[in-house]
Amino acid sequence: MAMIALKCPNIRVTVVDVNAQRVAAWNSDQLPIYEPGLDEVVRKCRGRNLFFSTEIQKGIDENDIIFVAVNTPTKTFGHGAGCAADLQYWEKTARLIHDCAKGDKIVIEKCTLPVRTAAAMSRILHSGRTQHHFEVLSNPEFLAEGTAVADLEKPDRVLIGADATPTGQKALQTVVDIYANWIPSNRILTANVWSSELSKLAANAVLAQRVSSVNALSALCEATEADIEEVSHAVGMDSRIGQKFLKAGVGFGGSCFKKDILNLVYLCGSYNLHEAAEYWRQVVVINDWQQDRFVANILHAMFNTVADKRIAVLGFAFKADTGDTRESPAIRVSRMLVEEHAQVVVCDPQALGNARHDLADLGDRVLFETDPYKAALDADAVAVLTDWTCFRELDYARVYAGMRQPAFLFDGRNCVDHAALYELGFNVYAIGKPARSHLA
Ligand code: UGA
Repeated sequence: MAMIALKCPNIRVTVVDVNAQRVAAWNSDQLPIYEPGLDEVVRKCRGRNLFFSTEIQKGIDENDIIFVAVNTPTKTFGHGAGCAADLQYWEKTARLIHDCAKGDKIVIEKCTLPVRTAAAMSRILHSGRTQHHFEVLSNPEFLAEGTAVADLEKPDRVLIGADATPTGQKALQTVVDIYANWIPSNRILTANVWSSELSKLAANAVLAQRVSSVNALSALCEATEADIEEVSHAVGMDSRIGQKFLKAGVGFGGSCFKKDILNLVYLCGSYNLHEAAEYWRQVVVINDWQQDRFVANILHAMFNTVADKRIAVLGFAFKADTGDTRESPAIRVSRMLVEEHAQVVVCDPQALGNARHDLADLGDRVLFETDPYKAALDADAVAVLTDWTCFRELDYARVYAGMRQPAFLFDGRNCVDHAALYELGFNVYAIGKPARSHLA
């Protein structure tokens, strides 16, 4: 919304939310999320044509176009628990729009939803005594965290789905015209509503599948002395495949991939497409397995015990350049290490607040430290779990000097210089590569 406000000075954008604390943060100098470049965008438009407010009913009433971006987490209860999307916030919003609207509205699904959810929205909006016309469109978001501003400024594509009816097509043109303010027309795709909804789930599933494919291969590399970076480079050089999203690691995290794939799994199942459901489920299974494997490798390398050993976890965010820890592999890895009675010390430049919350129940088995050198002091092992630049650029001689011997380094992101670390004395274990160990 901030980007729309920036690029379309003639459009007034009001963001409304139930959470007063968050709205206050959006109105302050300390935005509630860390996203490189976002502060500047917000600073340029806030108070001009970008407003943050808790007045939801007024927001609905006063605006012609409503983007619905409420959360749709995986259901934790009842039918479809652990797989289906929890649509309660979505439905409540639909009812709120129905009750507050005093005129016709274009309602846009911005959050990721199961296919055909727009139909349910439309039915709720047109129920009862309403005199108004609501046109429901789908406009999924493809930005990635950490690169959101760049992704919004120059998206690969914007996708807008609408009904083929005259009112649907008119609303579609209105939304296309907004994006046309800064996005070339050949990157603005239009589709029917169902294709648009499904494309979002499909894009995330295919991206995550690439990561799981390469991670599955990484295990085979470790067993055969092949090197996953050489393999993925050779595979990615095929122009039909491409280099991106073929980086092996400790597994994908983030609020979207797992949730969206499980959503797809559930959808396939509910249409009785069980083989297709299983196919996609394996993407998640491999991802969990990759994390388990990482911990198993740590245990094995450290003489099958980490009890009372100090392990510095460098990086807790699910990827670099974000403080977001949702579904971060670091959560599962840290928990498993604590189960093995290790003393875990978590270090991250942006995610320590979230990490404290995620691991709150583990008590003093987990410590939190902003300084990586202090985190690694007296540690038996360092595990790199997020590819932050600051961890690549550490003075590893200094890290090594402070550690207990033998010193182990487990690179869950293949992001540090393994040969150099080995020369310093570290026993280095990376993903999908032969181990570099000084121990016989
Ligand atoms: C993802 C998609 O990339 C976006 O296009 C989509 O809009 C977004 O979900 C969403 O649905 O909102 P995001 O979750 O922010 O974006 O992050 P990604 O850059 O996709 O990374 C996801 C995870 O995969 C990270 O943990 C990352 O470290 C991991 N990954 C990524 C790898 O392990 N290897 C790779 O080669 C690429």
